Amino acid sequence: MGQRSYAKRIGVTGGAGFIGSNLLLHLVPRYPDYLFVNIDCLTYAGNLMNLESIESKDNYCFEKIDIRQFETLLECFDRHDLTGVIHLAAESHVDRSITGPSAFVSTNINGTFNLLELARGRMDRGFRFHHVSTDEVYGSLGETGYFTEQSPYRPNSPYSASKAAGDHLVRAYHETYGLDVVTTNCSNNYGPYQFPEKLIPLMIRNARAGLKLPVYGDGRNVRDWLHVQDHCEAIDLVFHEGSKGGSYNIGGHNEITNLELVQRICAILTDRLGTEPLDRLITFVEDRPGHDRRYAIDASYIQRELGWKPRYTFADGLAQTVQWYLDHTNWMERCVSGDYSKYYDRMYADRREMT
Ligand code: NAD
Ligand code: DAU
Repeated sequence: MGQRSYAKRIGVTGGAGFIGSNLLLHLVPRYPDYLFVNIDCLTYAGNLMNLESIESKDNYCFEKIDIRQFETLLECFDRHDLTGVIHLAAESHVDRSITGPSAFVSTNINGTFNLLELARGRMDRGFRFHHVSTDEVYGSLGETGYFTEQSPYRPNSPYSASKAAGDHLVRAYHETYGLDVVTTNCSNNYGPYQFPEKLIPLMIRNARAGLKLPVYGDGRNVRDWLHVQDHCEAIDLVFHEGSKGGSYNIGGHNEITNLELVQRICAILTDRLGTEPLDRLITFVEDRPGHDRRYAIDASYIQRELGWKPRYTFADGLAQTVQWYLDHTNWMERCVSGDYSKYYDRMYADRREMT
């Protein structure tokens, strides 16, 4: 039987992470004529359980590969004859980048370089490279103003510096070699399947368990929150319609201080669980070193050029997200215990033995 032919064959790196798994859950059913190859080495942040509902689809497959290993990546690109990549794989947590920056440099810079080199070798096939990046590359804002695509790069943490380096390499491959690249710089995402080291799921888990809610510094740092589904729709649009070499800022215009956000989460939880007010658990702790004060995205370019705008209001998205974590306490606890990593052994290692 001949191999099935696909209109596009797209590698999605980091597809087992928070945004990557939401993206695959969005793309795989939407484009049945494309093949999606999830390329992920399953660090602590990679969780294949998120993808159970698409695992047996014809147009999806998983490759356990570290993007730092060029030869293995090359073999995968050749075997699947990839025509494009949406690159999300990264070390993504700022606090971890402060205590252990090395993996951030190797994955976010060297890993991105490997992927760019492979893409460069496939330019004759119209290969498109979509680099998924962050608003943190722009550094920190004062009380007013927004990050635009023209804002200077001023990263302040090893995480954001490594992402900025990746962005620069992507730009250079377009300018120097003419590689077809698009870059998206997005603000803070929230929604299902976020690893509970990040603010929103961490606070939900702790509050439910009656543990302290650690707010860094004075709690007045501002983040601009976007529902992950809105981000995924923007990625889909930019991958398909973004202009070659283009950069697009993506954000939700939902600026809120960390303290106010934690108070809102507490209010929703107190209401849903019928407990004593949970905001009594809020505890101010030592600040994150180099803690960016404020992020806020001007997303008018992507709105104007491609017609994207977020569909979720923050009130609905947050309430729905809190409920999702309440309904998935088992998922959360398996993340914390590390139990989810056994899923790969069960689903893939056994299967490989059988064939
Ligand atoms: P995440 O930490 O939840 O997931 C990262 C994924 O990458 C995991 O599945 C992990 O196993 C994989 N990975 C890490 N190192 C790898 C390597 N060397 N080889 C192969 N796979 C590797 O991250 P996320 O929050 O889903 O973020 C995804 C991307 O989006 C990142 O590039 C991040 O910088 C960017 N981003 C995130 C946010 C946010 O709010 N979470 C906002 C803007 C941009
Ligand atoms: O802006 C996009 C970025 O958003 C992404 O590029 C990163 O990958 C993603 O992790 C996120 O970075 P932040 O550092 O903004 O997210 P985090 O959830 O770690 O923290 C959000 C804010 O909450 C930040 O100001 C630090 C604060 N915080 C965080 C934690 C974990 C606390 O006050 N207490 C906490 O326990």
